Amino acid sequence: MDKPASAAGEPHRQAPAGRSGPRRRPDPPWRERVRKLRLVLFMLAVVVGLPALGLWLVNMKFGARSLADLADAATLEAGRKLYAVHCAGCHGAALEGEPNWRERKLSGRRPAPPHNDSGHTWHHPDQMLFGITKFGMVPEKYAPPGYQSDMPAFEGTLTDDEIWTVLAYIASQWSPPHRIHQAGVNRRSTRFR
Ligand code: HEC
Repeated sequence: MDKPASAAGEPHRQAPAGRSGPRRRPDPPWRERVRKLRLVLFMLAVVVGLPALGLWLVNMKFGARSLADLADAATLEAGRKLYAVHCAGCHGAALEGEPNWRERKLSGRRPAPPHNDSGHTWHHPDQMLFGITKFGMVPEKYAPPGYQSDMPAFEGTLTDDEIWTVLAYIASQWSPPHRIHQAGVNRRSTRFR
């Protein structure tokens, strides 16, 4: 590794013998290259790393990875249609839930809750809403062990994209304070990722 300077093809870097300060030997050229490499890596870290760190922090702070990302008009319109076809029958055309949705049915199961501010959909992080819609109220994941529910699993009926689309529509119906609350729930949740 420690090649003599003359072998590295940079003869001009060889200090003439007897130059001032005999104790200070000239740096071998590889050391210069290592220094340059270090500078390049440092610059890379600054140029690439800082913006990446910034984006990550913004993402953490403002919950960019959320249903809020899907709030464009076309998605919401598609979601509204999907909702009318697949969800409104139980959760209500205006997202109001089944009548007396707080009381259990005779079967012991829960009615479909509202998806608007008056329900509790907005209490849950995006990934959990997605999971419940795709797989149903899976016991031990989204519900206690042995839990029985009338919420169907939409896996096989809706694609993942359609599930996100319909959830985006639901989220778009929450009032700003509820949206902000749910964005906070999202940031704090790691469990359902
Ligand atoms: C056949 C009736 C039915 C249909 C159709 C239905 N749901 Fe449900 N859903 C329920 C019931 C009942 C619950 C309550 C489950 C429980 O607590 O046992 C529920 C609960 C949920 C929850 C959990 C809400 C919370 O706050 O805990 C989500 C999310 C959900 N449904 C999304 C959807 C979406 C999205 C659609 C349409 C793609 C849909 N559901 C269609 C019956 C239905």
